[in-house]
Amino acid sequence: MKSLAAFAEEEYEAFRDLLRDAAGLKFDESRREALRLAARTRALACGDESFRVYLERLHGEGGEAERQRLLDLVTIQETYFFRNPEHFQALAGPVLHEVRLHAGGRPIRVWSAGCATGEEAYSIGLSLLEAGVHSTEVVGTDLSEAALGAARTGRYGQRAVRQVPRPLLDRYFERVDDQFLVGETLRQVVRFEHLNLIREPFPTVRFAGCDVLFCRNVIIYFTPESVRRIVRTFAECLLPGGVLFLGPSETLWQLSTDFELAEWGGGFYYRRRRPVPVREARPPVRATASLAPPRSPSRRPRRHPRRVAPPIPPASSGLDKALEALRAGDAPGATAILEASLDGQGAGAVPLVVLAYLYLSGGRREPAVDLTRRALALDPLCPDAHLLEGLVAREEGRHEESQAAFRRALYLEPASALARYHLGQVYAVCGQRRKAEREFSEAIRLLEAGAAASPLSVAYPAEALHHACRLAWDKCREARRA
Ligand SMILES: C[S@@+](CC[C@H](N)C(=O)[O-])C[C@H]1O[C@@H](n2cnc3c(N)ncnc32)[C@H](O)[C@@H]1O
Repeated sequence: MKSLAAFAEEEYEAFRDLLRDAAGLKFDESRREALRLAARTRALACGDESFRVYLERLHGEGGEAERQRLLDLVTIQETYFFRNPEHFQALAGPVLHEVRLHAGGRPIRVWSAGCATGEEAYSIGLSLLEAGVHSTEVVGTDLSEAALGAARTGRYGQRAVRQVPRPLLDRYFERVDDQFLVGETLRQVVRFEHLNLIREPFPTVRFAGCDVLFCRNVIIYFTPESVRRIVRTFAECLLPGGVLFLGPSETLWQLSTDFELAEWGGGFYYRRRRPVPVREARPPVRATASLAPPRSPSRRPRRHPRRVAPPIPPASSGLDKALEALRAGDAPGATAILEASLDGQGAGAVPLVVLAYLYLSGGRREPAVDLTRRALALDPLCPDAHLLEGLVAREEGRHEESQAAFRRALYLEPASALARYHLGQVYAVCGQRRKAEREFSEAIRLLEAGAAASPLSVAYPAEALHHACRLAWDKCREARRA
């Protein structure tokens, strides 16, 4: 139909505003044509000869159901099992460990918000079952009724399950022709509900008390205003210490101070801050008894001819303030302070490196790479700048370069537990488990000896690092013995 061949400017704006108000979605010029095609498809299905008539239908009585159909078409439902596998490793590792400590014996509650056709929610359920958690409730929610229908059916093609290891496919799915049907064990812990994350009033009570929340690759399509609103809601729904997983290109940077960033195996997530006890004076390095996993390395970590680590260099007041903010868990605050202080001249390599680390943690690789280069040009012997190079290379899958950069960092600063931990991680990924074990073990020894902290170690609290090293060490040992 000719009148559906192009959007008049005011028609485009009317659709854009309707979808923003109905679901918080943003449509910029790059998605204008996709929006027109979806609107055209629905207008034709309704027998409407123009966008104007179809818009009247959407706004008219009974428009709700049609708005839902249009939303089903314009939302992007790309997903698959174990997308970003490092998140599921973190879930089954340190996250579960912490959550269990605080959950006591009660069921663990996980919410997959924007679960699309269900792969994410089932991957969560599967990871928890495999980790021996049977008392759990995983709720997948989405705006799209069509997607939820597919999720409840739970029948998937080869492409969707391509990252599911064979033994797990056999255990949790039934083979139906060339498809995979979710089996009863997994269905019992996962259920699905319709939920528009933007709709007011938000049913906070229904979702309050969550231990873990996945909302990945959803807020990337939201307007900034909707993102702010939903992040506040997530903070209300998560228990203190609860964990939020976002997609790799999503960040809470400058959005919320309710969360602190954490990293595991190269994947990042956010932890809902706990209220800080008033009289607390934190021990400098040692892992707390409650955080430490039950087993400890039996092998005495080897002695290292350690040179005394240099103290944190006297720095611009900008760096001091940023480190203070980081110690308080305020990464966005630290970032803003550093960005402001770098406007001036002569800041030195260290603030550049800390800012690069913050950018990288927030998924902003390009500015991180640029700052690392600048730091190395200023001070080619800055250990943390080499560590940053290693992290960037690891993210890009350049494992050999990554190892070399971490080794350079360790040559310059053998007492860097952070560099040892990351080097261990790359060795582990490359299947060099003995070497990995040695690095984790040495990192643990350094942390327990209270090795002098570099500025970057402020960004990665010693307790968390100690905990991560212990788990990684255990995992390597188990894998090697298996
Ligand atoms: C790209 S998928 C993400 C699927 C999965 N989380 C993943 O990362 O693989 C985005 C999902 O967000 C849903 N979505 C978009 N806006 C929403 C809203 N306002 N409320 C709830 N879900 C929404 C879409 O329907 C879609 O299924």
